[in-house]
Amino acid sequence: MYKDQQLYVAHSAEGAIHLIGKMANRHGLIAGATGTGKTVTLQVLAETFSQAGVPCFMADMKGDLSGISQTGGLSKFIEKRCAEWKLDTTTLKFEGCPVRFYDVFGEQGHPMRTTIEKMGALLLARLMDLNETQTGILTLTFRIAKDEKLPLIDMKDLRLMLDYVAKNAKRYETTYGNVSAASVGAIQRALLALAEQGGEAFFGEPSFDIFDLLQTEGGRGVMNILAADKLMLQPKLYSTFLMWLLTEIYDKMPEIGDMELPKMVFFFDEAHMLFKDTSKALTDKIEQIVRLIRSKGIGVYFISQSPSDLPEAILGQCGNRVQHALRAFTPKDQAAVKAAAQTFRPNPAFDTEREILELGTGEALVSFLDEKGAPAMVQRAKILFPLSQIGAITDEQRSAINAASRISGKYETVVDRESAFEQIVKQREAAEKQAAEAKAKEAEEKEAARKAKEEERQTKAAAKSSRSSSRKKSLFATVLGTAVTYFAKTVATQLARNLTKKKR
Ligand SMILES: Nc1ncnc2c1ncn2[C@@H]1O[C@H](COP(=O)(O)OP(=O)(O)OP(=O)(O)O)[C@@H](O)[C@H]1O
Ligand SMILES: [Mg+2]
Repeated sequence: MYKDQQLYVAHSAEGAIHLIGKMANRHGLIAGATGTGKTVTLQVLAETFSQAGVPCFMADMKGDLSGISQTGGLSKFIEKRCAEWKLDTTTLKFEGCPVRFYDVFGEQGHPMRTTIEKMGALLLARLMDLNETQTGILTLTFRIAKDEKLPLIDMKDLRLMLDYVAKNAKRYETTYGNVSAASVGAIQRALLALAEQGGEAFFGEPSFDIFDLLQTEGGRGVMNILAADKLMLQPKLYSTFLMWLLTEIYDKMPEIGDMELPKMVFFFDEAHMLFKDTSKALTDKIEQIVRLIRSKGIGVYFISQSPSDLPEAILGQCGNRVQHALRAFTPKDQAAVKAAAQTFRPNPAFDTEREILELGTGEALVSFLDEKGAPAMVQRAKILFPLSQIGAITDEQRSAINAASRISGKYETVVDRESAFEQIVKQREAAEKQAAEAKAKEAEEKEAARKAKEEERQTKAAAKSSRSSSRKKSLFATVLGTAVTYFAKTVATQLARNLTKKKR
């Protein structure tokens, strides 16, 4: 709880333990075995930030974080702790925080989308598990799209863009490099798999404006809760999405100096999923962003079962630590406990390693950074109880919150503006039309040529036939003439004969 301008989050035998606001952007880690109280610790920290006016973003794996939106209440457990800490229960102000729900699949909250372009080739390649060659081709495809002003917004844009690059591979060879059809085929198959994982819904417009996460209502920081129960079944989509969010915030937020309180705090539950099967290049990128984002006033808190789930470089940046109980059944577990204990500045009053194994639910070893940024000596503490409800809310409560949200309606409807897909289709249609016109023109010319030839042939034929008929005519005339002459001659001879006969 935010009390006397302090982030009061735990209580040890020596008294209240505060998270120093100025140091809250130096990141943190909440670790512990299952059921030891990690989620409630996250809730306590987040609602304390909210009370202080700091907005937060958190991924809700099991739906139990949604309770932060409702008023909590006294329980035997809380009464006992209040008595122990000499807190007057009548002064406790139980209340929920302003909450907005998000859901990549758009089912339990406002949809959260981004464009293919904003996600970038590197993150996308990781999302699809592409090898080096395929990643190279994807990067090159992004570059060509940019150079040719073909916006890559959704998955159909990227699918057609890849096809376009493959079909024009020869043209791009010298400027951009080789594009093998086999690699493009592999990327297309990976895209299909991603679409089946729900990627289709995630890429598109309106793309999410991260400044919507940085809001306060009535002086309280808005708790932005991502419904991740379905998303966490797709670890690649989950981790890539969170990486995109961090990168986007990093890119857009201005650099700020030291502040009394962070601008915003991220809580990444099941943080081990962020680093599972991650290439060295991407782990380096996550590490770099986490390191740099601090200067923008953003705190990042990882929640995981064991500190060893996180890469050394990230772990080293988590100055604020809450270690719940760990179990040590196997030699591997024992090694993890030892490693976890060694990350703390020892307290001569107890043996850290043994203490980790003996902590009860809601108890933890706590070490926050002091005013100078140095880790405080580890303390055995009890985490405060939340003033909001512990556990999930009902579907009706969720629907009511979604309907009343200030950004309700902003992202709900997908807008499919003209982008690479439409432009390439247009280009292809224009090319087809041109080809069809050229073909039609060619056919027309051929027909005209054929007709001209035919006419010529006919003229020639006509001329020939007229020549032959006149020849025939003169022959007929000759024959007729001869016949007439012969006939005349015969008649004359006959007449002469008859006359002679008569004279005699
Ligand atoms: N600080 C606390 N104040 C009050 N109750 C608590 C506190 N911490 C834990 N509890 C109780 O313990 C239960 C389990 O805690 P929580 O859900 O936080 O464990 P977890 O470590 O997140 O478990 P999992 O790994 O299964 O997610 C809570 O439902 C709550 O009843
Ligand atoms: Mg939990």
